[in-house]
Parts: sequence; structure tokens; C-alpha cells
Amino acid sequence: MKTIRIFDTTLRDGEQAAGGALTLEEKVEIGRQLQKLGVTVIEAGFPSTSPGDFEAVQFMSRELRDVEIAALSGFKEDQLIRTWEALQDAERPLLHTVISTSDIHIEQQLHMTRTELIDLTERTVTIARNMAPHVEFSTMDATRSDRDFVVEVLATAIKAGATIVNIPDTVGYSMPSEFGDLVSYCMDNVPGIQDVIVSVHCHDDLGHAAANSLAGVLRGVTQVECTINGVGERAGNASLEEIVMALRTRQDFYRTDTTINAPELLRTSRMVSNHMGMVVPPNKAIVGGNAFAHSSGLHQDGMLKERTTYEIMRPEDVGQGGSKIVLGKFSGRHAVRNHLDAMGAEIDNEDTFEEIFQSFKRIADRKKEVTDRDIEAILEDRAHRAFHQTYELDLVQVSCGNTGIPTATVRLKADDGKVLEDAALGDGPVHAVYQAINRIVDVPNILTEFSVYSVTEGIDALGGVTIKIESRGRSFSGHGSDTDIIVASAEAYMNALNRLLDALGNKEEVKAETATV
Ligand code: KIV
Ligand code: ZN
Repeated sequence: MKTIRIFDTTLRDGEQAAGGALTLEEKVEIGRQLQKLGVTVIEAGFPSTSPGDFEAVQFMSRELRDVEIAALSGFKEDQLIRTWEALQDAERPLLHTVISTSDIHIEQQLHMTRTELIDLTERTVTIARNMAPHVEFSTMDATRSDRDFVVEVLATAIKAGATIVNIPDTVGYSMPSEFGDLVSYCMDNVPGIQDVIVSVHCHDDLGHAAANSLAGVLRGVTQVECTINGVGERAGNASLEEIVMALRTRQDFYRTDTTINAPELLRTSRMVSNHMGMVVPPNKAIVGGNAFAHSSGLHQDGMLKERTTYEIMRPEDVGQGGSKIVLGKFSGRHAVRNHLDAMGAEIDNEDTFEEIFQSFKRIADRKKEVTDRDIEAILEDRAHRAFHQTYELDLVQVSCGNTGIPTATVRLKADDGKVLEDAALGDGPVHAVYQAINRIVDVPNILTEFSVYSVTEGIDALGGVTIKIESRGRSFSGHGSDTDIIVASAEAYMNALNRLLDALGNKEEVKAETATV
């Protein structure tokens, strides 16, 4: 059976999703998880666009073994050199470069002729191949290009040394059969294409990204580019979990498989969702909260008689509904440590373990059972705090109800040791808490997104809150979880504010600059 290479671009194209920017620590944590998931390639970033991306690509190139690390570059020589600098220490580096082939891009964006573009392709791939052993070349906007011109450009790239050629549906324009035909046309007409890896990269503007990618597989490509949860530019990229599980569940049809360790899918999905501040809809295939929930009487009846009546995959095969109850308030350090090991959590030192253990104890005091999901939430909250904490939430108290005005009291500890306290009224309890925090922190920002979800089941469930705030044209996500949804909301806000202060400078600078805008 043929193995399809899964080229994950969550950390590059995925991060290009509006508001989805990640910190270095978050990128590295997702990178490690992608490796556990078993992807063939991790596209770690676009190093020439920012020092942060350079650092992330270099860090992952040095740290992650047994996986190919790719980085995207523009076609200019200095961009290619800078990208290679970030990548060169990888065990298996892949230098990815891209040039548009559609007339609309060539004329309106690049202001070139087709002849100039062929020369540029040859020059770009030659420079890249002089540095890197593996070079991927992408024909951006291939699906709105003259297909004979795509053939000519791909042939040029292969002749100049590209080892992978990629056919993107950059704007999600193609229909599955049409996209399959384009792939076949290239397969049949590009000289030398049988000697290189052929890849597809589809966007989801019309909801066809996964279907188009799979059409490519049917026409013989051996690499698919995709992202966890389908995150990415505009409507996003093809969703990794959908492609992988389609290939696995319908092996009778596709006759291919991947190297993906599917039980890690849900964990990876949650990590990406939390770090990017993008909630996964409950009805999302494979990783959505309802993907294996049966609610109608007829379906439940069928399920009770025989699971396969209404399920085409087993939830545990994608990491849904794994081990549930394990720990409680009487569990000690030993049990928690063993459990963390079994979950594959990497705890680097005793202080870190102690902090995790104390968070565990706080939850265990308020919940009958502490599940894997609760522990994952603790670990995710920690990862969200992997930057300077200007303030720490010390106390939040709310009075609300169907009569009277919601009132909140908040106490914060500042990094200089000061304890700051204030109170405020609001339209609701969360609003009152945010107003009280604003009175203390006093950094202008706008709340642009707020969503609440249940991390675990039951009346004592841990609630998660994901928010986004904007300040000076930049967006910052925040996340918090607690059995009390008001506390989780306060944690999420503090998380976003600390991230804002860490990224934009100290509080006084942010206030002064905002005042002058
Ligand atoms: O969508 C696109 O065309 C891309 C390329 C860089 C592959 O992201
Ligand atoms: Zn893309």
C-alpha cells in the first residue's frame, strides 16, 4: 500500500489565520506534538518574514529529529539565504519556495511577463538547490492558471533541481473533479514529474479543501499539505484529521495510508485550538465534541444494539473518549506524576511538577473525578503562561442574580510585589469582573471574541474560556479553565492582558503609546 506524506503546515499557513499568531513557546509545543502525531513534514514557519519565525524554525530544526522540517521562502535571493540559515541544522531540512503562475497574479501582483516568470523559477530553484538537498517548489494559484503554463513552470522547476513540486488551490476555487483533472494533466505532461514527489495544497474557501486534496490522491500525488483543525488563511486549509481519517477509514477506496498516529489527533486538535484561540465547532468531523455523540432515539437504539450501525470510526482511534477517570482529591504526587508520564507530558523540573500538582489539587478539591481532559487543561493553561506575567489573579468575587446589579471585586498581584484591589459594576458578572480588572490594569483594549465551552462532562465540569482582545492593531488571545466559569473568564482575560503587555512593552509604554494613536 502506498504511503501518503502528510505535510503539516499548521505552524506556517495555519498561523496565517487572522488572529492565530503563536508565541515561540506555543509553536515549539505544537511542533513537538506534531512529531508525536507522526506527520512526515512540519512546515515550521516563514523565517524571512519575522525574527520570531526565524527563531522558531531554527529552534525546531535543532531540536526535532526523525521528522522533516520545512520552511517557506519568497523567491528573492536574500530570503532564500535567510530561510536556509534557519533550517540548515535540521536533520532533514526542506526548503520550500513559491512563485505564482496565474495571469492575475503575474500581471497584477508581480508585474512580470510569463517569460520573466520562467527565468525567475529557474533562478530561484537553482539558488535554493545550491544550498538545500531538498527543495519544494509551489505554483501559487495553480487552479486559476493556464494549465499549460503550470506544466511549463513545473518542468522548469524540476529541471533546476526541485525534489518536490506542489500544486496549490491557493484561493479554494476548484471543484474536486476539476482539481483532479489538473493534477492528472500535470502528471501526464510535465517531463520528469515521475522522478519527484508531487504534492497538493488546498484552501477551503468553498468548503472543498479536503475533497480536492483527496481528488489529488486519487490522481497519484504522494504528498498532501494540511493543517490541524483546518486552520489557515481566510477559510483555512485542508484539515489534516479529515484527510488522514478518510484515507484510513476508506482504505478500500484509496488504497493508501499515512504514518499518522491517529489516537493523538484529538490532543493535537485541542492544543492548536487553545493556543490559537480558535474554538473547534462541536460538529467538526473527527475532533468536534459531537463527532461521536448520538442523540436521536433511533440512533441510540442502533448504537446500543451494534456500534457500527451509526459509527464508521471508533472514537478511541482518534483519541476521543480515552481513559476517563483516574485521579481524585486523595491522589498524591506519585499517582499524579505516573499519570502525567502515561499521558506523555514532558515535565522539565521539580518546580514545574509542583505547580502542576498544586493546580491539580485545586481542581480535585472541587470535582469528584479529575480526568485526562482536566489534566490537559492544566498543562494548556501553563503553556499559555509561557511569557512574562505582569499580573497574577489572586482573588475574584462576584455578586449577581436576577435582581440587583452584578458587582465584582478583584485582587491582582503585580510582578513588583504590589497587591492591587478594586471593584466594579457591570451588565453581567463577567462584564463586572472585566471592568474591575480594567480599573487596576488600565491598558486600553477591545474585547473582540469571547467563547465558553465545557472541558469535561457533568455538573462539576471544568469550563474553558477563550477570548481575544485587540490593542494597537494587534490581537492577543487568552485562555483560562476552572470549575467556576467566572474565574475561568477572569483567568482568560489576565492571560490575554499579560500577553499584550509582554508583546507591546511594559504597561506605562503601552498606555503612553495608545494615548498618542
Ligand atoms: O496557498 C498557497 O498557495 C500557499 C503556498 C505557499 C503553497 O500557501
Ligand atoms: Zn496556502
